[in-house]
Amino acid sequence: MTTATVEVLKLTDRINRIEPSATMAVVAEADKLRTQGIDVVDFGAGEPHFPTPQHIKDAAIAAINGNFTKYTAVGGTAELRDAIAHRHNIDFDSDYRREEVIASVGGKHALFNAIQVLVDHGDEVILPVPYWVSFKDIVRYAGGNCVLLEADEAQGFRVTAEMVARLITPRTKAIILNSPSNPSGAVMNPDDMTEVIRLAHQRGIWVLSDECYVYLNYSGRNFSVGSLRDYKDRFVVLGSLSKTYSMTGWRLGYSMAPAAVTSAMAKLQSQSTSNPTSIVQKAAVAALKGPQECVEQMRQEYIQLRDHVVKGLRAIPGVTCTLPEGAFYAYPNISAFFGRGSLKSASDVAGRLLREAHVATVPGEGFGTREHIRISYATSKAELDRGLERMRKFLAAL
Ligand SMILES: Cc1ncc(COP(=O)(O)O)c(C=O)c1O
Repeated sequence: MTTATVEVLKLTDRINRIEPSATMAVVAEADKLRTQGIDVVDFGAGEPHFPTPQHIKDAAIAAINGNFTKYTAVGGTAELRDAIAHRHNIDFDSDYRREEVIASVGGKHALFNAIQVLVDHGDEVILPVPYWVSFKDIVRYAGGNCVLLEADEAQGFRVTAEMVARLITPRTKAIILNSPSNPSGAVMNPDDMTEVIRLAHQRGIWVLSDECYVYLNYSGRNFSVGSLRDYKDRFVVLGSLSKTYSMTGWRLGYSMAPAAVTSAMAKLQSQSTSNPTSIVQKAAVAALKGPQECVEQMRQEYIQLRDHVVKGLRAIPGVTCTLPEGAFYAYPNISAFFGRGSLKSASDVAGRLLREAHVATVPGEGFGTREHIRISYATSKAELDRGLERMRKFLAAL
């Protein structure tokens, strides 16, 4: 949008401070090629390839047929909030109660609300790099400033309390953690996480822990900050059913936080979306209280796909890739190709990969690094092979 258009429209400063999601932009461009009849291999989309498990779908159908189709309490029914707390308490040894839980229209919505109630104009929020695209813009929308914490790729993007401590100023309000991480798949060591939580508690800083991939952890060290009960007056756990139960389109996320923060989030939600869809709430209860084998089955398949894609990427001359320990993304470093055929950045590589090799990936710039592209491996092995082969040929010809 040009400055002149902005002046005519008189849009707010806050909307002009943010950008559309980089991942959505890739999806749109890949869709455009597809409508032209081009066969695109899609490594861009950040969502599971599995259908939503049948018992969850059945619960939604039963909710419709049972006329559970009216408004509910803004933060979700008591049944749902109890189910969220109970699931988390048994899986991660936390002790959340209904008053500390709010259900929202997706994890992104819960994160948006939490940031709106905790971050004020001029506040600083520490953000480890690479970061999920939306963190930066949601903080900016609230008027906050992101202070980037550069994590070292050679150390598996490790984030430690010392690294955080170096960035704390009198204006620091919060730090955002995201383990397992989108885009790198990095998993924080529980000791490092505990140290960051202790430090934040000591210094009166909030920790927003985005744990939407917490069930997709392949490191053998599955951990939620929620288990650190002694410090829970200073952190917010953000979760989502989107990835755990393959329910991205249903839009059900949640937060667990001190009751005063939760009620402030409910106040904000009461003036925007109101309750998450009633039917989806019933489906969410079925997901959280029903059999959990589906989660483990999906996790096992992701491990196989992870191994397959990383092996394939590392076999491409010039590409290096850290081993992702969670989520369903690989984050290969493609900087060896800069300088070849006018390529200067990850955006250049991703752009040409899409237009010339018809493989959709997300360039690292949206996540704060310019040497990487993000590959979502939530797809079939056959599709991974097709995409990897196209990438190999394209990069070899540069
Ligand atoms: C790190 C992270 N947090 C939150 C979300 C939001 O998920 P949803 O709004 O679908 O629950 C995503 C989705 O991609 C994510 O990757």
